[in-house]
Amino acid sequence: QPNLVTIDQLDAEDALDLIHEAQAYKAGKTVELKRPAYAMNLFFEDSTRTKSSFQMAQLKLGMKIINFNAQTSSVNKGESLYDTLKTIESIGVDIAVIRHSENNYYRDLLKNHHLNIGIVNAGDGSGQHPSQCLLDMMTIAEQFHCFHDLKVLIVGDISHSRVARSNAQMLTRLGAKVYFAGPKQWFDDTFTQYGEYGELDDLLPQMDVVNLLRIQNERLGADIEVDTGDYHERYGLTKARYDQMKEKAIIIHPAPVNRGVEIDSDLVESPKSRIFTQMENGVFVRMAILSRILRYRKAL
Ligand code: CP
Repeated sequence: QPNLVTIDQLDAEDALDLIHEAQAYKAGKTVELKRPAYAMNLFFEDSTRTKSSFQMAQLKLGMKIINFNAQTSSVNKGESLYDTLKTIESIGVDIAVIRHSENNYYRDLLKNHHLNIGIVNAGDGSGQHPSQCLLDMMTIAEQFHCFHDLKVLIVGDISHSRVARSNAQMLTRLGAKVYFAGPKQWFDDTFTQYGEYGELDDLLPQMDVVNLLRIQNERLGADIEVDTGDYHERYGLTKARYDQMKEKAIIIHPAPVNRGVEIDSDLVESPKSRIFTQMENGVFVRMAILSRILRYRKAL
């Protein structure tokens, strides 16, 4: 495929293929490009993990990276995202990795098929985060090997979360059972098709995977202030709640983590936590995503 912009593009088999390829990269598989290939990472929203992880994946595949700084680009002179991409296509870039605050920013770009550049969505507003979703699925697969009937609880700021949306969709497709908990005002009807909402303390002891989410203050609006201490007590993963989890259950979180809010700081690196394994797996999943596009573009 030429792009990966939404998890909707992947059926269960596609997702498992990408995870298997990522596992091969993790086990030491190397590749050689057939020709020089160039990447540009256009981040219009802040990022530590996704941007550096894509950069690492690009370098490991032997791609060359052209720098792009959203703050000093001609977007600030009014140039559209489409014209920006047409420009970097013209100078020979193969793949653009884009993070943008606007939901579905990629729809207009792809509508008329005038762009001959691979596009990878690195997160669009509260829409989709396909590479995060696949690295989460890889991390779950490492622990459980099979998704069928696995119980996954997504906790927290669900309605603003592109991770919750992508993961709920893909987990359902892979045969897992999805549950939601957290403040009711952050759960919306668009999620009911994927699973049921319940009380955190009732659901937690039955779960195989607990997928914590960050409170996304940047999407809440200036007039909403969250009492973080109260949130931690009601919805956070405390030591008492950790002790209620199944023996083999794991904790995942896309990060950045608000230590002491959605999770007790000491639990971030606890035996059940896979938060840093997720980051490690992210590089290999992104290598698999980029490889697929490079093969389409006959560069691999
Ligand atoms: N998980 C994630 O997307 O992290 P960054 O915002 O740091 O990229």
